[in-house]
Amino acid sequence: MAKSTTTSASQKKGSTDTKSGNGIAKNDMSKNTKEDTMKNSSSKYDTAKSGFSKNTGSNSASATGSKSSSSKRHKTLEQLFEEELKDVYSAEKQLIEALPKMAEAAYSEELQDAFEHHLQQTKRHAERIEKIFDRMGIKKEEKKCFAMEGLIKEGNKIIDEFDESFVRDSALIIGSQKIEHYEIASYGSLCELADVLGYGKVRDLLHRTLEEEMDTDEHLTMISQAVNDEAYEMSRDEEHAEVYSSER
Ligand SMILES: [Fe+2]
Repeated sequence: MAKSTTTSASQKKGSTDTKSGNGIAKNDMSKNTKEDTMKNSSSKYDTAKSGFSKNTGSNSASATGSKSSSSKRHKTLEQLFEEELKDVYSAEKQLIEALPKMAEAAYSEELQDAFEHHLQQTKRHAERIEKIFDRMGIKKEEKKCFAMEGLIKEGNKIIDEFDESFVRDSALIIGSQKIEHYEIASYGSLCELADVLGYGKVRDLLHRTLEEEMDTDEHLTMISQAVNDEAYEMSRDEEHAEVYSSER
């Protein structure tokens, strides 16, 4: 049991919190130079050339004619990088809208603080992407991130379906960690693309965000240990109360 992971025990919601022994409290309601690009790109390309071969596509949809290719168009790695940046920009913007509601819904003060802190971080993440757009001469626009939209919908469903309790916090943490893991995957992939394209400074900016997402994920894991303990105790007490009342 990792009950020593949280500290504050003040209770904002004021109702009975007889299970805060572990300290969990309730919540009140420049682009790089061309040379760099060439150097980095060629070294990576050599590795790829030595290790991979092209799929001949004998079983592909285009070979069998089972799918229309009319909407397909050739895209370069640069274009893919740009689209992925716009996708994660959309993800960050959506999260900025969603986090205040998640913070409001958090039952424990620690989780509320974590969401509020991450909101400030997320605003900086969006600003960092805008900085990258400026640096690369890319128009500041979002490409709707449907994955984040779905993850946020799942979070809203939790808020609608669970009453305020540590169990809801457990569910909110699961939802938030899915969001963090999605962002970690996005920024990790973008770092790799920036690296192969030779955008060293852009890669550093993206990596800073990646590290913050990883820290957030770790922090959520830490909070979950105490929250899950509380949720377990609460659920067990409720079960006991039910058995007791049915025996009377
Ligand atoms: Fe972020």
